[in-house]
Amino acid sequence: MILAVETSCDETSVAVVKGGKQILSNVVSSQIDVHERFGGVVPEIASRKHVETITLIMEQAVRDSGYELKDMSAIAVTQGPGLVGALLVGIVAAKSLSLALDVPLIGTHHIAGHIYANELVHDLEYPCLALVVSGGHTELVLLEREGSFRVIGRTRDDAVGEAYDKVARALKLPYPGGPHIDRLAAEAATATVLPRAWLEADSYDFSFSGLKSAVLAVINQTRMKGLELDEAALARGFQESVIDVLVTKSLRAAKAHGVKQLLLCGGVAANSGLRAALEARCEEEALPLLIPPGKLCTDNAAMIGAAAHLKLKRECYSDLELKADPGLSLEEWSVDEPLEQFPKQ
Ligand code: KG4
Ligand code: ZN
Repeated sequence: MILAVETSCDETSVAVVKGGKQILSNVVSSQIDVHERFGGVVPEIASRKHVETITLIMEQAVRDSGYELKDMSAIAVTQGPGLVGALLVGIVAAKSLSLALDVPLIGTHHIAGHIYANELVHDLEYPCLALVVSGGHTELVLLEREGSFRVIGRTRDDAVGEAYDKVARALKLPYPGGPHIDRLAAEAATATVLPRAWLEADSYDFSFSGLKSAVLAVINQTRMKGLELDEAALARGFQESVIDVLVTKSLRAAKAHGVKQLLLCGGVAANSGLRAALEARCEEEALPLLIPPGKLCTDNAAMIGAAAHLKLKRECYSDLELKADPGLSLEEWSVDEPLEQFPKQ
């Protein structure tokens, strides 16, 4: 039984996860209403809010689980990537609990969490490929074995969610903008034609800043000409460009690596257009597509518990020197030890 803590950005979350698969509780306190009026997450405010809520959320997560603190086998906490001040709050809370209860501490990678959120609802088969799309990340991650992560593609500039939020801001939509663009795009009768950033022919990398600039250029030119902006068509054009590139590159990588499953994860996995397009293409290719339910796609601690279980099974623990690491490498966090040499947990 792992008690997991996640405070990397603007959600304070604590969960109790059994055996890496069963969620006993998963309490998430979102700060969106606090950051909304600033149009984005203000790091200093995020840290303060985490400090205010972490103890209450922890108590509630333990209560909801039906167990007690003494029943926990380990404490997991997001070590990075994320906002350093925000990470620190969760880390200090987790270290205190680990010390007080005398149970191991497991520093956990946030993206490994997003990927292993899938394990809370499906059984993963290897090799598999994960498309991670969130406010801070856009990555294609190959998992050749359980717990082994190889980043084969990443964004060279903006993350997808970040591009969504910036475009939404230019259209004066509320933060976070992703869901609003998604809704507008679905309502549109036509789509503004916008470029696609394919990069080099063999690259699995992404780039969204050019697309964002193209959207801003359309908005400015329309204004300068005194014309009325078709916001829905622009949202649809933007969304189609994003989806076209994400889907095409993911399917090409999946084929090249002969994977058994494609996993979609991160906050942008809630996007209806992206889900529909991936479902259609994966069905054509007879490739199983796994997508966690919405509340496990956005930041939550249950996913951290699921990823931390990889380390608990192998008895790979952190010590109390654990530091928040905003640039923590996913590949280095991999667990490559064969499981056979460890007793079953
Ligand atoms: O994974 P997440 O909760 O936090 C990070 O770790 O970043 O992702 C949040 C991001 C935001 O940028 C938000 O606009 C985007 O996910 N998002 C969406 C949708 N729902 C949330 N983007 C596009 N379409 C959506 N339906
Ligand atoms: Zn996240």
